Amino acid sequence: MHRRLRAPKLSAAALVLAAAAGLLVPAPGAAALDNGTARTPPMGWNSWNSYGCAIDEQLIRDSADALAASGLREAGYRYVVVDDCWMAPERDRAGRLVADPVRFPAGIKALADHVHALGLRFGLYQVPTERTCAQRGGALPGATGSRGHERQDAAAFAEWGVDYLKYDWCSPEGTLADQVAAFTLMRDALRDTGRPIVYSINPNSYHPDKNGARYDWSPVANLWRTTEDITAAWATRADPADGSAQGVLDITGVNARLAGQAGPGHWNDPDMLEVGVGGLSDDEARTHLALWAQMAAPLIAGNRLTAMPARIRDLLATPGVIAVDQDPLGAQGTVIDDREGRLVVSRPLADGGRSVSLTNTGDGPAVLATTAAAAGLPDAGSYAVTDLWTGRTATVAGPSVPFGAEVPGHGTAVYRLEPRAVADGPGQRWRARSPVKPSTSRCRLPSVLRV
Ligand code: GAL
Repeated sequence: MHRRLRAPKLSAAALVLAAAAGLLVPAPGAAALDNGTARTPPMGWNSWNSYGCAIDEQLIRDSADALAASGLREAGYRYVVVDDCWMAPERDRAGRLVADPVRFPAGIKALADHVHALGLRFGLYQVPTERTCAQRGGALPGATGSRGHERQDAAAFAEWGVDYLKYDWCSPEGTLADQVAAFTLMRDALRDTGRPIVYSINPNSYHPDKNGARYDWSPVANLWRTTEDITAAWATRADPADGSAQGVLDITGVNARLAGQAGPGHWNDPDMLEVGVGGLSDDEARTHLALWAQMAAPLIAGNRLTAMPARIRDLLATPGVIAVDQDPLGAQGTVIDDREGRLVVSRPLADGGRSVSLTNTGDGPAVLATTAAAAGLPDAGSYAVTDLWTGRTATVAGPSVPFGAEVPGHGTAVYRLEPRAVADGPGQRWRARSPVKPSTSRCRLPSVLRV
């Protein structure tokens, strides 16, 4: 059941056209957006994955309250984002956006005030085209997109206290150049409001070209969706070109190869979390979170916060994994091994160490191992290793000493390595004489799982 990572194909014709338009690569020297926000990947919660259009102000208030009360706020989950379907079908006479008067009777500003009073930040959804995705799909009446209203809408967002805008293409039309122009228009409109607003874009929705993975959007937005919508599945193997949702492994295959364009203030967005939504096993949910952290992805939870089991809360709040995601260096991890049955990702960290994840892409348990040298760590006599699920530490006695674990099917072991000895106590040691090779070896690591 293993899939190798594949780069999405860009047709020769598309390459020629894009190159002719000077657009495939942003102008040389084009600086990444620096609006002071999203210096680490944004973390928060969004209404879409669990509720779709079935939202109202009470649900958003309750979810914000639960985010604060559950401790997820302290874990770093700060943005409460109201996705599609908050709008009335018509703008008012002055052309202003209006919240749905039945489901959001107190209006968006009052809702944002409630969220802010909890020490959280507030986000909202809109599109640069005519119709939101729900309007285009027929789930919501009206055509209240921002086209032609960009400055007016940006001013409204700032006035309401919006801290995060999710701006979603939602149209089969428009060239890459059109998309760049439209997304840039709102970038500038937001900037001119003077309010720091995280700018999250999606060039892929309803569009056959999936330009989110074909263009470096870092000069335009703080985060940009790289794939089709996520669904709570390990791998759908569907063709995203026809709009089919993608699973954790499908999305990783696209997003992981875009590591070079991520950094503080500008992130690849492999879509929101499906942790706790249903559809993923606990091992798959752990893999989802670990890979998103390794890819420096925004962590936007999508589960029902008001009915969150403790084990989902604890997973979402796993301190070592969150610390990797939020590492201030902001370097996205890269795949160092994707041979049959495994996916090994190494991410450079600000302290000179690395986080290393060993994902078992097969269906049954397997022993997976790598070395500090393979993970790109500098030469050292020993390495302190922390298992990020348990917090336990161990020592790896040299750069080419294999370390790892027996990992359940679709599961992930994830470690933090520092090029130094473990100070406090001997812990477990992986020694040079370990019989394990960093290969497809199925032999057991003698010390495995006792980290
Ligand atoms: C999709 C988007 C989803 C959600 C939805 C709302 O295009 O990718 O995350 O925002 O629209 O209709």
